[in-house]
Amino acid sequence: MKRVFVTRNLPGDSLDKLHRAGHEVDVWPEFLPPPRATLLEKAKGVSGLITMLEDKVDAELMDAAGPGLKVIAQYAVGLDNVDLEAAKLRGVVVTHTPGVLTDATADLAFALLAASARRVAEGYDYVRRGDWKTWHPELLLGPELHGATVGVVGFGRIGQAFARRARGFDMRILYFSRRRKPQAEAELGAEHVGLAELLAESDFVSLHTPLVPETLRLMNAERLSSMKEGSILINTARGKVVDTDALLTALEDGPLFAAGLDVSDPEPLPADHPLLAHPRVVVTPHIGSAGAATRVRMAEMVVDDVLSVLSGKEPTFPAKSS
Ligand code: DGY
Repeated sequence: MKRVFVTRNLPGDSLDKLHRAGHEVDVWPEFLPPPRATLLEKAKGVSGLITMLEDKVDAELMDAAGPGLKVIAQYAVGLDNVDLEAAKLRGVVVTHTPGVLTDATADLAFALLAASARRVAEGYDYVRRGDWKTWHPELLLGPELHGATVGVVGFGRIGQAFARRARGFDMRILYFSRRRKPQAEAELGAEHVGLAELLAESDFVSLHTPLVPETLRLMNAERLSSMKEGSILINTARGKVVDTDALLTALEDGPLFAAGLDVSDPEPLPADHPLLAHPRVVVTPHIGSAGAATRVRMAEMVVDDVLSVLSGKEPTFPAKSS
């Protein structure tokens, strides 16, 4: 019997599998994450940890768990909260949930794009405030989706899935990524361009990069101010890919018409944050992967990989550098 600590309850019944395999499973029952001291305490002596993106998974946590720690299964595709090097040094296998959440995240990115361009949240506020007195030819005009140019920054699985949706709206697709993706270019009719060109030409820019040192505040003041006049920024990647103060400036005094954000810096975004006072900023609380079936499947993936590692087998979804 091995012990596994799970830092939040998971949808579906996958955790039963761990019980059935004879493991002792301790699930943090509260909605908010375990406080750091509690996390360190709970980790003591475990063989497996199932973690979320808000948990700081570092050397201190691994050492608190001790030498019996075999696997850390991250319930997310992003691993920016996990010190992969520290895990490698300690011989701890790290796994995550790639692929399964691609479509759900691309769906939400597109929903944010449509909502920001066509002013859905602003229109809803307008109606709720009782301002809807008449139909008017000039009421809440926004950029057209069809025929627009969209720039996809980061052209991995999620970026390509987003582009596929944009294609259905007859958009011209530009993309920026370190490596060209000829197959996806052919399938999606996408053009590989430099970031400066993408920002200057795109009506909508959607971010799909992981958070790594090279993408930290990639969208800084200079890049945001170089975006096309009247354009819209969508971020479903990580909040820290964008400089929040510069984003506010670009919305208030710069070229941006609107922004659709599923992630933010800080995250969570406090209710009195200036971004929320801007009428054309649409924010959702990091729910890109929150398709009901997707979240159940993510739970199956982390549990199956914990079971594999604890029984001496290779995991199906190892983190690349672990
Ligand atoms: C991820 O998987 O990295 C998302 O941000 C949460 O599902």
